[in-house]
Amino acid sequence: MHFTLKALGLGLVMMSGVAMAEITDFDSFNAFVKEKNIMPECSTCHAVDAKKIGPSYNAVALHYKDKEGAAAELAKKITEGGSGVWGPAMMTPNASAKDHTETLVKWILSLNPEGDAKADAEKEIAAMPKAEAKAE
Ligand code: HEC
Repeated sequence: MHFTLKALGLGLVMMSGVAMAEITDFDSFNAFVKEKNIMPECSTCHAVDAKKIGPSYNAVALHYKDKEGAAAELAKKITEGGSGVWGPAMMTPNASAKDHTETLVKWILSLNPEGDAKADAEKEIAAMPKAEAKAE
């Protein structure tokens, strides 16, 4: 039993090591974007803990946490662009990110804001236009 748990733990560490090999924080996220020539750079419009032109990544992570299909939906949004979910501002289509959306989204959704950062993200989420308002 003891041995099994140890082996399982090691397996998990190895798996997460592989999954997060390239992106571990906002700096390595931005370096990845540069390295893959993704233009315009995401950081022009996004920060981790504050709304810029687009929502903070903390707010995105908190909003889509545990939502089924969110990763695929967000990957599609990155390549196709769009507006209306967080406000009237437009995310430009980003075809140059096409082969890397999974990696980018995985890191964004791995964020887990706590304390003040969580409170800020919750404010952004509370300010999202409501689905009902859009239908009118
Ligand atoms: C020109 C500015 C701009 C750039 C560049 C940009 N975004 Fe966005 N992004 C936005 C805006 C504005 C929104 C909000 C869209 C909406 O409300 O539907 C957004 C929304 C998002 C969302 C949430 C989508 C949703 O439907 O909830 C994710 C994830 C995201 N961006 C990731 C990225 C990544 C990764 C990149 C780089 C590949 C990027 N963005 C580049 C402006 C931008």
